[in-house]
Amino acid sequence: MSIRTPLIAGNWKMNKTASEGAELARAIAASVGIESAVQVVICPPFTALASVSTAVEGTHLAIGAQNMHDKVNGAFTGEISAAMLRNLHVTHVILGHSERRSLFGEDDAFINRKVLAALEASLKPILCVGELLSEREAGTTQEVVRRQVEKGLAGVPAGKSDQVIIAYEPVWAIGTGKTATPAMAQEVHAFIRQLLTKQFGAEAAARIRILYGGSMKPDNADALLAEHDIDGGLIGGASLEAKSFVDLVRSAAKSLTR
Ligand code: 13P
Repeated sequence: MSIRTPLIAGNWKMNKTASEGAELARAIAASVGIESAVQVVICPPFTALASVSTAVEGTHLAIGAQNMHDKVNGAFTGEISAAMLRNLHVTHVILGHSERRSLFGEDDAFINRKVLAALEASLKPILCVGELLSEREAGTTQEVVRRQVEKGLAGVPAGKSDQVIIAYEPVWAIGTGKTATPAMAQEVHAFIRQLLTKQFGAEAAARIRILYGGSMKPDNADALLAEHDIDGGLIGGASLEAKSFVDLVRSAAKSLTR
């Protein structure tokens, strides 16, 4: 059995108002119950963090943000700091999502500064990595993933490696209905664990969760989660409804018993 607690995280992206978010969070919390062998994190947009945070108080659900700035405070119009997130009981933060990289020009150096700032503020970064379709077709998947992992985690102290979560999200699988096959995903997850071993040592690397993201749904989750190095999922579309999201939490719980 794996020493890693499976983690299912819902990335709501730019969906749900504050009140819709609270309603969805309550529905998820009611189904998950107060105990689960799976860690469950929901990541609403900034504007719903406060209402969702109140809605999940005393439940098994933890809250993540979808982004943050690396600076502590100051003249950064439109940005949000780690301290602002912590004040709303946020414990996790998605960093370097491919939509941030491709639509908002975030590069590895900026993402790395955010990872370090998140750790400094005791937020757990969920660092997203993954190749474009053209990169997979050109055979450069490992090269791209290596760069994103090594640059994204540069300077992370060994003592904090257990706070880090990686999400492998092949960009061509996000929102497209095309999933990586379990074998394709496992191959990249195992490669990422090798990179983590190089940076932090085998024991620490064995504790770091590596999530899969990209059209993960209740009907393909069991097979993905059965793979040795797939420790959970970062879910987009299927996290927007309580039933499909909770079904994924159940799949992750089931993966523990196999
Ligand atoms: P989908 O599950 O909608 O493909 O989105 C995945 C994702 O980008 C999660 O961060």
